[in-house]
Amino acid sequence: MYPHWLETWWVERALRNLGAPDLSAASARLESEIQRLSDLFTTERETRFGEYGRDEGLLLAYGLFFFPQTFARSGFPVREAIHPHGWRPSGGGGGPVRLLDLGCGLGGATLGTAHALAEAFPGLSIEALAVDQSTASLDTLRELAAARPDGTGRLAVETARGDLRTWFAKENGGRRWDWIVASFTVGEAFYGQPAAAMAPWIDAAMESLADNGLLLILEPALRETAERLEAARDRLAGQTDRFIWAPCPHSGPCPLLAEGSHWCHEVRRWAPPESLVFLNRHLHRSIHDVKFSFLLTGNRAPRRPWEGSDPARTARLVTPLRIRKGRYSWGGCAADGKRRDYELQKRDTGEAAAGVLAATARGDIVETGPGREIGRPPVFRLEGAEPPRNHSRPNGEGKINFPHPERVPPESPDFS
Ligand SMILES: C[S@@+](CC[C@H](N)C(=O)[O-])C[C@H]1O[C@@H](n2cnc3c(N)ncnc32)[C@H](O)[C@@H]1O
Repeated sequence: MYPHWLETWWVERALRNLGAPDLSAASARLESEIQRLSDLFTTERETRFGEYGRDEGLLLAYGLFFFPQTFARSGFPVREAIHPHGWRPSGGGGGPVRLLDLGCGLGGATLGTAHALAEAFPGLSIEALAVDQSTASLDTLRELAAARPDGTGRLAVETARGDLRTWFAKENGGRRWDWIVASFTVGEAFYGQPAAAMAPWIDAAMESLADNGLLLILEPALRETAERLEAARDRLAGQTDRFIWAPCPHSGPCPLLAEGSHWCHEVRRWAPPESLVFLNRHLHRSIHDVKFSFLLTGNRAPRRPWEGSDPARTARLVTPLRIRKGRYSWGGCAADGKRRDYELQKRDTGEAAAGVLAATARGDIVETGPGREIGRPPVFRLEGAEPPRNHSRPNGEGKINFPHPERVPPESPDFS
């Protein structure tokens, strides 16, 4: 859930700077700034964002419209590292966890990552260093971090101006990190260079990880950006001392990259804050799903609770779970490194299985009962009523993806 204090901070800043009494009065101006920023993102591929950070109108548009989405995006891979892959803070769980966010911008991913960690490990202390080349963005992030109310966990945020491309060679100075995050920035920093140019940077980042540290790279869901990550991932898959944690439940080559018709990306449901829903009422963007591609890697192997069972039966959902014509179906990237379509007849589904599937969403890792491949192209048809196991929600919780997020925009949200 997007924290109320963050939403309020951005709304109050907008009202103060636009001299408006409430969001309704400011909405026409904000909508046009959001439109202006979206056009810049489309034409400039989100490049040179740091320069826009100096333009107050664009900054407010970003803070109210895009910042919450960045915040939400980064939480998904963090939760995946914890369930099912078993990431835990070292040293007994209290921290401090050292978090480095490179190309942090206004810190949506810094705060989103920290929030997801603190939610999973209450009382955890987190020391974050947020780095960007834009001084204006870092200034805003410091203001924002200083406004965190008491009782929002133990998080210290420092900022540093720097170039992420040379960070590890010049500025990191031998520090080790539990989490290194680079959200929507690596593609921008290495723009125009071949995918292979990222490889030495990824190696240097991984050498700067603590023993149980993880490197998380998030990128847009575009084919071009996703395939660059898939290629980076395939290079790591060939190494014995580097481990792919997610999105893949296996360590072989990426089947999607080999096939070349689809690319690996996430479409995840979340609950946008009221102010975002309100500002979207004339813009009609698809704000209830966050879309991105990502790669999560570490120097230690992830826990894979399905290991030892038939790998064809376990897959990460790379499509939504569909229920139609008397059957459940989904596409999955399986633990044996193959992309498969799965199918379960509703008449074969017991109550327990239906309950698990009702709380299952795209991005979850699901282990099913036995089945066999039929037809052409082959579909893995599950047989028998053995309930599937959702490894991403070991306690049956169904709240990671918020299945019913559609909400009517409020007339005018009250932030008084
Ligand atoms: C699209 S924004 C993303 C910001 C933030 N990480 C997020 O997810 O919202 C890209 C950010 O990367 C920063 N950036 C681009 N190239 C960089 C570089 N070589 N070194 C440091 N920061 C860089 C820009 O200043 C900008 O803040």
